[in-house]
Amino acid sequence: MATFLFIETICYNKCMEKSLTIVSGIRASGKLHIGNYLGALKQFIELQNQGHNCYFFIADLHGMTTPFKPAELSANTLDVAATYLAAGISPEKSTFFLQNHVLEHATLAWIFNCITPLGELERMTQYKDKSKTQKDSINAGLLTYPALMAADILIYKPTAVPVGEDQIQHVELTREIARKFNSRFGQTFPEPKPFMQKPLRIMSLSDPEKKMSKTGDEAILMDDSPAEITRKLKKAVTATEGNSKSPGVDNLFFLLEQFGTKEEVAFFKGQQKAGSLKFSELKETLAKEISAYFAEFREEKQKLLDKPDYIAQVLGQGASRARAVAQATLIEVKEKIGLL
Ligand code: TRP
Repeated sequence: MATFLFIETICYNKCMEKSLTIVSGIRASGKLHIGNYLGALKQFIELQNQGHNCYFFIADLHGMTTPFKPAELSANTLDVAATYLAAGISPEKSTFFLQNHVLEHATLAWIFNCITPLGELERMTQYKDKSKTQKDSINAGLLTYPALMAADILIYKPTAVPVGEDQIQHVELTREIARKFNSRFGQTFPEPKPFMQKPLRIMSLSDPEKKMSKTGDEAILMDDSPAEITRKLKKAVTATEGNSKSPGVDNLFFLLEQFGTKEEVAFFKGQQKAGSLKFSELKETLAKEISAYFAEFREEKQKLLDKPDYIAQVLGQGASRARAVAQATLIEVKEKIGLL
């Protein structure tokens, strides 16, 4: 253990020195909220802009391990692609593609399936949790999910994998698979380190004791219109009369620190200290700032969604770039294991 690092630490110590190879997969399930943005997407863009060799893909094959409908799978994939591009993932700087377009991932996943003990897969927390809650619909893909994830990663021989806390265990297993492969067939794969994305506690607007999730009025989505942002914030739980500190108020201040100006934060903190904080004003300012922060994003995303052919072209180019590297790794692997 203790092999994971916080993204910030890596950035300060390493990012400035040399270019790292970075791989991460993106789930394509529904719209992203501002917590997802701050916790993951924003960091991907920073890593890309620091000049690292980044592979970002939409994990559409992983999206099939839980119940799905074909129309939703394709619509969600397109929506996530547009979201990432509109937010600043650059097809020139990063290699951005769909997992299913680079067939080598699935071939390497099969090879990894054949060297991974069943017990290792069965002890994964995500598998145990999901198989408990979806008794009727467990498929074999849910169990072998980490072998595909190991293939997604190792095929690009990266240095680091930025993931959320829930995926650390899968990256640890990836390292074990790399070790096992190397010791059986000769040094082939590096052991990439998981970067833990800064665990941000963006709380639900309607129940600030729990983390923001995508349902109802508890989350502000990156796509929300200014009117929608204002409406949701108006309803956000703050504090009971006369009490200006509570989890809900802390959450609003945290958001203001992310999206507002230093002056605004200082102004409202001052009011809070003096006992004269007006929640309605704090919410209005926050709504204005969040709306402004995502204004360009909203416009850009709409433009992209109106040009699905352009998105397809970008993803196609990304896949060609990724494929060139993936093919070279797979040739090496096949030779080592004796596949003719
Ligand atoms: N399993 C990851 C998630 O749910 C997505 C993913 C698939 C991934 N393959 C990956 C993440 C490879 C990092 C590297 O978020």
